[in-house]
Amino acid sequence: MVRKSLAEIGAKALQLLPPEAAHDLGMQLLALDPLRFFADDSAPFAVLERQGLGCKVNLPGIGELPHPIGLAAGFDKNAVALKALVRLGFSHIEIGAVTPRPQTGNPKPRLFRYREDLALINRMGFNNDGVTKISDRLRSNGSFVANDSCAACAVGVNIGKNKDTPPDGAIDDFMEVHAGFKDLARFFVINLSSPNTPGLRELATPEFIAELARQFGPEIQKIWIKFDPDMNRDSFQKLVEATGVGGFGGLVLTNTQRVNKPESGGLSGQPLLGRANTVLEWAWDVHRGKIPMIGVGGIMSGGDILDKIVRGANAVQIYTALAFQGPLVVANLMAGLGVEMRQRGFSSLEAARGAHY
Ligand SMILES: Cc1cc2nc3c(=O)[nH]c(=O)nc-3n(C[C@H](O)[C@H](O)[C@H](O)COP(=O)(O)O)c2cc1C
Repeated sequence: MVRKSLAEIGAKALQLLPPEAAHDLGMQLLALDPLRFFADDSAPFAVLERQGLGCKVNLPGIGELPHPIGLAAGFDKNAVALKALVRLGFSHIEIGAVTPRPQTGNPKPRLFRYREDLALINRMGFNNDGVTKISDRLRSNGSFVANDSCAACAVGVNIGKNKDTPPDGAIDDFMEVHAGFKDLARFFVINLSSPNTPGLRELATPEFIAELARQFGPEIQKIWIKFDPDMNRDSFQKLVEATGVGGFGGLVLTNTQRVNKPESGGLSGQPLLGRANTVLEWAWDVHRGKIPMIGVGGIMSGGDILDKIVRGANAVQIYTALAFQGPLVVANLMAGLGVEMRQRGFSSLEAARGAHY
């Protein structure tokens, strides 16, 4: 009860600040892991299990997760608040984007909040502490080490390239970040989709994906690829085919949508939902369930989660919903997901996956 009220008050107070200041202060507070004083054993997924609803998901290369809701990349770029984020109930967390060398990102202001639309636009530009500092931080957090069956939460790394790295150096950047976290992370996501690093999206070609698979060799099973939602169907489906042929772990769909108005950058939140779901449909059309997918983009409710699962997502991630709804978001989404599953007649997420087709 106390935990709930404090979390709600904190989240509302942060909304009064400009968006990046709110995010920075929120991260500083989370880094102190304040919820450790309010032990609460009622894990959000336990509620569904008690109702006989199966919400476990199994992701090849990542392992079994107690439920599908993870934290999308960009929220805890520097891995400073993992313990607190695990306490909020996420089943998996993607840190980063991490680049080989630290970067300050684009000039501020670079994050814009549109409360009425439940949307954000960002042009952060991969601000992060770089591979050495972030991997040291993760290492000092022993409970998250790779393959630790006790790890409460699967931690993955979103891999970016430095802004000043030319396109023909991108694979070296990706390999350097991967090497830095090889024994620390349960999965990796190569980011070919941020709209805020010039030239990054242009790397998303079937040839480049084939080359990535060649260079990473057997490691490729633990490596997922995140694409943008702005391609046409044909180009996108060719990339999905290449991802399958290359033997990647799976697809993270999608990153933000590129916009120029009212600000230039990447659009996230509710307005992205329809487009991101269409992209899941295009991917399913190619692989019919053979390639695992994490659905991201616009989730604000349990119904939005189920909409992605029935379109073939194995798991989902959120970013903007956490910014607007605050720290109770995972528990609330899980409760909503349970209601939606019962209403639509699914006894497990496994039964729901792909039911749209
Ligand atoms: C401020 C901000 C920073 C982000 N940084 C990254 C990033 O570094 N790497 C990445 O792959 N996606 C990044 N994203 C995209 C999110 O991971 C996610 O794909 C997108 O926000 C859509 O999900 P949502 O509608 O739930 O927010 C960022 C999003 C926001 C709002």
